[in-house]
Amino acid sequence: MTPREQAPALSVQLQHTAHLLDRVMQGESTTALLAGLPSSLRPGIQALLLSVLRHAALARAASTHLVQKPPARPVMALLQTTLALMNVEPKPYPDHTLVNQAIEAAKNHRSTRHAAGLINACLRRWLREADSMRQVLMADPTVRWNLPGWWIERLRADHGRERAQAIMQAYRHPAPMTLRVNARWGDAQKLMTLWEAEGIAARITDTHCIELSSPRPVSALPGFAQGWCSVQDWAAQLAAPLLMEPPTASGPDARWLDACAAPGGKTAHLLELGQAQVWAVDQDPKRVLRIEENLRRIQAQAQVKVADAARPHSWWDGKPFDAILLDAPCTASGIVRRHPDVPWLRRESDVAQLAAQQKQLLHALWPLLKPGGVLVYCTCSVFKAEGENQIQTFVQRHNQAQRLSAPGHLFPQSAQEPADLGQNEARDHDGFFYARLRKLG
Ligand SMILES: C[S@@+](CC[C@H](N)C(=O)[O-])C[C@H]1O[C@@H](n2cnc3c(N)ncnc32)[C@H](O)[C@@H]1O
Repeated sequence: MTPREQAPALSVQLQHTAHLLDRVMQGESTTALLAGLPSSLRPGIQALLLSVLRHAALARAASTHLVQKPPARPVMALLQTTLALMNVEPKPYPDHTLVNQAIEAAKNHRSTRHAAGLINACLRRWLREADSMRQVLMADPTVRWNLPGWWIERLRADHGRERAQAIMQAYRHPAPMTLRVNARWGDAQKLMTLWEAEGIAARITDTHCIELSSPRPVSALPGFAQGWCSVQDWAAQLAAPLLMEPPTASGPDARWLDACAAPGGKTAHLLELGQAQVWAVDQDPKRVLRIEENLRRIQAQAQVKVADAARPHSWWDGKPFDAILLDAPCTASGIVRRHPDVPWLRRESDVAQLAAQQKQLLHALWPLLKPGGVLVYCTCSVFKAEGENQIQTFVQRHNQAQRLSAPGHLFPQSAQEPADLGQNEARDHDGFFYARLRKLG
């Protein structure tokens, strides 16, 4: 490593992480904020910020407990960042290092300099009283589960206390980096043989699915650039095979639509597995560029369009589709393990608003399906309003819609937790909902 590439001092990283934490809590997404950082800082800050977000509720409760009157936001953010990191297990840094570096960070910036003494006093008090304070603060379910109260209530109302607890326990464990092996190139066994020779630690979890023991940049994965594999969670890998199951028509004349396609993970999978003319539509032009990038990498082609799928008259050629995949925008409540900022960015009212968008998309796309055709609806959500309830209402109102077998609600699962409540094999994956509808002719 050259001196230019060396990680910056921990105090500098704490200052940046605190600044980003403050912005996330003001409603900005972690992904966008991290993308704006210089590449030399990004890996370190990303690791710290995600750890902090996984302990954000405890840090917030502890900081409120420790200060008499709330200090300025940058001071609070630095205090909370450090408190969160002091609660991460296994400890990323010894407590005394974190305290010293936090004080250093406070002194180094004009927005926090005046409060270095306060930060020092609060952190040292936490060190003395952590066990007893943690016990008191953890009595609050929001702190215990690191989730807003409304979220916990909704999980319990949707799935019962036992299932809700299993979901919340799974949320606490970072998700593994999972890859889908391109079936046109080979299978998981073939790629593992190559990677083992390169010393890459990983395990095969399905015919075309590999889980890395620890995440690494895709540029360090032999074969990624050539399209031999793509990053995709195991549960997300169910979409394409489900859409292609009989009675879906395939072949050079078959037409399949991926209606909310960006960044193209599931479009690419469809093209790897099947033969059809595939349309990939998404309304976000920046994200559509990523569909094109992904398809180029796996050397596959689709009709890619920037368009509002809910307004087909603006992009559809009037020829019906044999199959439609609707991977609808949602709360992302199934992927909290990967995006621990999500519970802090969502408001309760977002659930109804997103469910209304999903309903609009379903209603707008259904007429585009051929009689006998199949529509797969999925979301990376565990909330019933975006899954089971959405589909039940749709089927009640569309008597041509016949439900075919599909996984329904799949709950997030961590290999580090005891066996799941019998939903499927012990796998490490995100939460998803899948329904499959056939249009009776
Ligand atoms: C869950 S993501 C899709 C992920 C994608 N299927 C994959 O596997 O890579 C949802 C996508 O829906 C898009 N979207 C939301 N509303 C839309 C609409 N009305 N028309 C088209 N795309 C929409 C968003 O831009 C976002 O890219």
